[in-house]
Parts: sequence; C-alpha cells; structure tokens
Amino acid sequence: MLTSLRLTLCLALMQRDCQKPFTFSPLANIKLNSVKLSSMQPSPLLTLTEKDVEIGNLATSLPPFSPAQVLELSSSLRGQGYDPQIIAQAISLAQLRQAAQAKFGQSAHSLFFTKDGLEQASRPEVAKYHAEIYKRAQILSVADLGCGIGAESRAFAQAGLNVTAVEIDLQTASYATHNLGEFPNAKVVLGDVRQLDLEAIADAIFVDPARRKNGKRIANPNEWSPPLDQVLKWSATLPAGIKVSPGIRHTDLPPQSHVQFTSVEGNTVEACIWTGKLAQALGGSGRSALIFRHGKSYEIRDENAKEANASITPGECAPVGTYIYEPDGALVRSGALASFAKKWGLYLLDPRIAYLTGEVNPFDLPRDDRDLWDACLQTFRVISTHPLKPKALKKACHEAGFGAVDILNRGTDILPQRLRQQLKLNGNGIRGTVITTRVGDKHLAFLGVKLNVCDG
Ligand SMILES: C[S@@+](CC[C@H](N)C(=O)[O-])C[C@H]1O[C@@H](n2cnc3c(N)ncnc32)[C@H](O)[C@@H]1O
Repeated sequence: MLTSLRLTLCLALMQRDCQKPFTFSPLANIKLNSVKLSSMQPSPLLTLTEKDVEIGNLATSLPPFSPAQVLELSSSLRGQGYDPQIIAQAISLAQLRQAAQAKFGQSAHSLFFTKDGLEQASRPEVAKYHAEIYKRAQILSVADLGCGIGAESRAFAQAGLNVTAVEIDLQTASYATHNLGEFPNAKVVLGDVRQLDLEAIADAIFVDPARRKNGKRIANPNEWSPPLDQVLKWSATLPAGIKVSPGIRHTDLPPQSHVQFTSVEGNTVEACIWTGKLAQALGGSGRSALIFRHGKSYEIRDENAKEANASITPGECAPVGTYIYEPDGALVRSGALASFAKKWGLYLLDPRIAYLTGEVNPFDLPRDDRDLWDACLQTFRVISTHPLKPKALKKACHEAGFGAVDILNRGTDILPQRLRQQLKLNGNGIRGTVITTRVGDKHLAFLGVKLNVCDG
C-alpha cells in the first residue's frame, strides 16, 4: 500500500509539471486498493508551490482586469523585473478572480482557480443549500468526491460539517487546499475516488462528476468521471448528493431518490439526486424544483411524482386568458409545473408546451406570493392573438405601438432573429413581446406586454 501511495505522489509531481487540469492518467490507472482512513491524510504536495504564491501575490496586487491594458501592464511588470511566465499566469489568475466575483463575491480575490475549475464550480448559494440538506439529515461528515477547486467543500465546511475533499488532479487539489485553508474541519486528499473505502471516510458523500472531456459535454452519464452507475452503487450504502446535468432523462433517475432541478436567476443550472437520509430530509422520493431568485429560494414539489423516475403528469388546458405566463426552466424540468398550475388556478395553452395562461395578476398578490410568482414565472398581459404570419404580425405590432419586441418561442421552428427583421420595427414606441407557439395544430403568435413584477 505504502509503495503504491509513494508512486502516486511521485507521478502526481510529474503530472504537476504538465499543469493540465482534469487529466486522468497516470493517476487514474494506479491501483491504490481500498485506501483506509489512516492513509487519508492531506498530502504535503498540496501546499501551493513558491511559484503559485508568487503568481497569487502578483495577481492580488494588479489593478482591476481590463483586456485593453494587458499589453501595457505586462510591459510595465517586465520593466519591474518580473518573469514573463509569472506575469502571464498572474494576469490570467486576476482575470479568473474577476470572473469568479459573480459566483464568489469578494472572497474570489483570495482564492485560486483554474479555468476549468471555475467553470465547473457550484454557485455558493446552491452549495450552501446542499450543505443545509446534510445538516437537516443530521449528517456530521461528508466526503466531497471530485472536489475541483473546492466550492462545495467550502460551503460544507462553513456549515460545520467535517469534510474530506478528494481530487484526482494535483494542481486543482492544491488550489482546493488553499481555498479551504481557513477551515480546520476540511482536508483535501489527492487521489482517485474509485480506489477509496468510502465508508471509512465519512457518513455521506457528495459527488459532482466531471461531465466534459476536451471541452465537450459527455451525454452518457455512465461516461462521466466518476460514472453515474458507479456513484449510484456507492449510494446504496452511503447517503449521497449527486450533482448531474439538468437535462438528465427522468428514466435515468433512481426511483427511491429525491431529485431537485435548480435554477438561479432564471438559468437552469443543475439537478441533484439525493438518496437515503438526504432524500428523506427533502420529504422522500420524488422530484422538485429549487429556484433561487433575488436572494431567496423556493422549493416546489411535483405532487404527482411519488418516485423520481415517474413520468410527468400533464396539467389541464384552457384557451388563452388575460395573461400568458412563461415558467422557469427548473419548474418545467422537475415536472412540478402541473402541481404549481393547479395550486394557482392556471392552465396550459397546449398539453405539450410549457406556457401557462390564466387570470392572476401578480400585483394583486401579497408580497411573499408575488416574490414566489416572480421567481417561478414571467407574466405577460395579452393584447391580441394572431396566426403566426410575419406580415399580419408586422401590422399588429405597429397598431399596438411597439417600437421593439422580445420574441419568445416554444414549439415552433421560427427563427426569432429572422422574425424580428421581418417586423421592421423602428425603435420608437413601447417594448412589447411576441410569444410564438403551437396550440393543437395551429401555429399562433400572441402580442403582449411584460409585467415587471419584481419592481412592483
Ligand atoms: C465538476 S468538477 C467538481 C466541481 C466542484 N463540485 C466545485 O463546486 O468546485 C469534477 C472534478 O472531479 C475530478 N475528478 C474526476 N474524476 C475523478 C476521480 N476518479 N477521482 C477524483 N477526482 C476526480 C475532476 O478532476 C474535477 O476537478
């Protein structure tokens, strides 16, 4: 065992010189057999190198990143005697930190990122919510398997969980070590999660498999790293949170799990499969939408799905009413749309297409309900209905006083950009919305005006 561990570290050093993020070989091919808790100690290799520290310090001292000033900045730093390689890497880190501010706020400026690590990092509000689920399930320790630069592990540690973060890529693991440095309850281990005795490490696991190779998305979950079928085997003995693509087919979901489809400010960002105690903490098997909007989060359950892989129950339909509502992607993907519509007295325009209609004016709702509404739906007051024909629509837009339009489309093959050109609007007038869709066998366009619910 010791020999193979030494070999791992040795190869890891060689790998580090290549500085390639997310490289599976040669580490992935080494047989560590079941690594026991006693050997799951943070590796001394995982402290930042002197070069990393120099890059980090220089990045911290640079002015806010501006592409237009890179040349001038580099030449000024060369004039001060800095090594060109250090300058290039410091500028690149400063650029990543600036981009990371959207996800991590001010703490981004003291963290280390690789480009891939930042792209794959979970958003802090989502990671914080994940941590709360472990707490709700009264779990004390979690192994974050494939921790990347440590975004999830930071949230787990911050919530007071004991964290063992495992990462196969040396540079990423050393950055995670730095990024978790403020938490004595977190340690990073370099290694291949497939070689570990997981039950010896923690009470529960969190896995966010790598879902891209050479920049391309891997569609088959069993080709992710680690593969989904392998992760589901682990979840038979340990409660697991498994972050997956929100596009995952419901038929691929384990029936007894609870799966949450998550959106942040209107972008559908992930699905997370929760098993065992963690699924219980979310009310048992099934599916729900988790929607983050303006600092609040909302959980909406698909009341019809008793198991996570249940087929979606379509909602009831009705002809267009005073308003059309465009639902959030997580609400649609989770299958919770029909439950939500029923609760609020809304109807689908067509059973196959996720536009709702009804008479509810969100401005008439109490503040909390209005916030929920704003998180789940965009609301449009309908002005008129037309066949989906550009000439007729052009005339209707002019009559409605539209100077510009947003075009929403579900269920037709129109190209919004092309339709916009055909409408020939001159910018003078109100901003309207054209909603194009199919209702039964008809292709229709609704002219409408968006209600800015969050401003009310
Ligand atoms: C999607 S990223 C994780 C991002 C992380 N959850 C975060 O929020 O920062 C997946 C990570 O898993 C690592 N990984 C992939 N296969 C692994 C394996 N077999 N053992 C350990 N780490 C692995 C990759 O190097 C990559 O950093």
